[in-house]
Amino acid sequence: MELHEWAGRVFGGDCLEEKLLAPPGGIKALSDLTPGPAVTWRRPPRSGRLAIAPKGQRIKFPRPTAMDQQEMRVRSLHVFANHELMALEMMAWALLAFPEADASFRQGLAQVLVDEQRHFRLYCERLSDMGVTFGDLPVNDHFWRAGPDISNPLDWVCFMHLTFEQSNLDHAPFYGRLFQEAGDEASAALMQTIFEDEIHHVRFGARWLKHYQPEGQSLFQTFSQHCAEINPPARGKGLEFQEEARRAAGLDDDFIQAMRECRG
Ligand SMILES: [Fe+2]
Ligand SMILES: [Fe+2]
Repeated sequence: MELHEWAGRVFGGDCLEEKLLAPPGGIKALSDLTPGPAVTWRRPPRSGRLAIAPKGQRIKFPRPTAMDQQEMRVRSLHVFANHELMALEMMAWALLAFPEADASFRQGLAQVLVDEQRHFRLYCERLSDMGVTFGDLPVNDHFWRAGPDISNPLDWVCFMHLTFEQSNLDHAPFYGRLFQEAGDEASAALMQTIFEDEIHHVRFGARWLKHYQPEGQSLFQTFSQHCAEINPPARGKGLEFQEEARRAAGLDDDFIQAMRECRG
């Protein structure tokens, strides 16, 4: 199967079976000989239990101090699961949107997509152990709102890998610790798995940010200029800044310092 056919099924599928479709035979078995014409952004289909809730019906993300209540941990995990689902939908779109990107960019992105499918499944399994099915709570379309602003692979890595995923280097251990303190070892272990994978995903972003960095510009300047409007650089961090994780993801000291200092 061609890479774009698989991505097209994941992006265009209106059910979890299609969105979570594994590449037949594994990623290495996919060919990328005819990546096809570039596909402009559109919202992927969501219906039934997966439908995006109208604004008035959405629920607030719980406060960190409320994580001792199972109901609030469930709410958080449900939000995180939807982040994974939006991320994998958008990654499938990026494979369709950038057919001319380097072959190793496309292969790497396909690997990240498979990881996000696994993450979504892991959250669903944990929710199921807590008596909840994905879709029982309302979901939002936050990630998708940047879709129209992303025009090239550099915009893409800044929006997805270096803001949403970089921020998870802080969020995942932060919520993992709160879950642990609440005695919820299984949810804490899940956050650790996500954290370890996210280092690789941010590393993918850092690699391609450096690849596309124009001469005479710092890495952080390039990043700032290509962040989506809804996702300025400061969205790439959480409440507790994890310096070592960023270094492990291949970000240099100047970039890390600029991240630490940025506001907005
Ligand atoms: Fe993920
Ligand atoms: Fe990720």
